[in-house]
Amino acid sequence: MIQFESVSLGYGDKVVVSDINIAVPEGKTMVILGDSGSGKSTLLKGVLGILHPMSGRITVDGDSVGDLDEKDILLYRQRIGMVFQEGALFDSLTVGENVGFWLWEHTDWPDDRIEERVRTLLRFVKLEDVIDKRPEALSGGMKRRVAIARAMAPQDPKVMLYDEPTTGLDPFTSRSICDLIRQVQAEFRVMSLVVTHDLHDAFRVGDLFSFIHDSKVILTGDRKTIEESKDPFIRTFLST
Ligand SMILES: Nc1ncnc2c1ncn2[C@@H]1O[C@H](COP(=O)(O)OP(=O)(O)OP(=O)(O)O)[C@@H](O)[C@H]1O
Ligand SMILES: [Mg+2]
Repeated sequence: MIQFESVSLGYGDKVVVSDINIAVPEGKTMVILGDSGSGKSTLLKGVLGILHPMSGRITVDGDSVGDLDEKDILLYRQRIGMVFQEGALFDSLTVGENVGFWLWEHTDWPDDRIEERVRTLLRFVKLEDVIDKRPEALSGGMKRRVAIARAMAPQDPKVMLYDEPTTGLDPFTSRSICDLIRQVQAEFRVMSLVVTHDLHDAFRVGDLFSFIHDSKVILTGDRKTIEESKDPFIRTFLST
């Protein structure tokens, strides 16, 4: 389980989100929705352990992320796959090198073992044929797929974090990325947090939904709970 217990996060003395209480059960996907600047990416930074809570606790499988020492946080992060906003691939490396980058940097695996892992991951995202291409030669959707493969490189992940995985993609491509996120969830039994602005995509990938507004989580629940909510902010969100 990923659990936020009375968590406040921010920068310096500026509080961005306060008193957050949410839980993602084993194998489920939670979508985080909210306006630009509401703190969605900040929540993901908390789970990654890049940002420590100002108060409260974030636990993943019982480990309190803020309390891990330097060595344990590195091991912990290997279990977390992070897909950054825009994919954030290295343009000077090939697709295969992007996916294998972490393994070359952090393991003493021989090249053929790394290549095998890279091919397995690229096969999973259906892009084995572009292994030697550079990211600039790929479409937006293909770049996102590579970013997902790269996020899974260290080991089969326990947790996947996706920051706006479909922003800037056409509806058809967005759908295929949503389906891939579901496929990762089903195949690896991961817990996932997905940040998105798009309600269609949210309902396509999510089991649970959390809305952030005015620094708080104003509602968490399944699709039915969201659709039946009378909260004015959520009504507006649903109608646009
Ligand atoms: N490194 C930082 N230092 C200081 N303030 C920051 C930093 N990163 C984010 N913020 C501030 O925290 C708030 C929340 O930012 P965050 O990136 O989490 O929002 P978001 O919901 O992901 O927005 P978007 O939908 O535009 O990506 C914003 O006011 C932002 O200016
Ligand atoms: Mg963001």
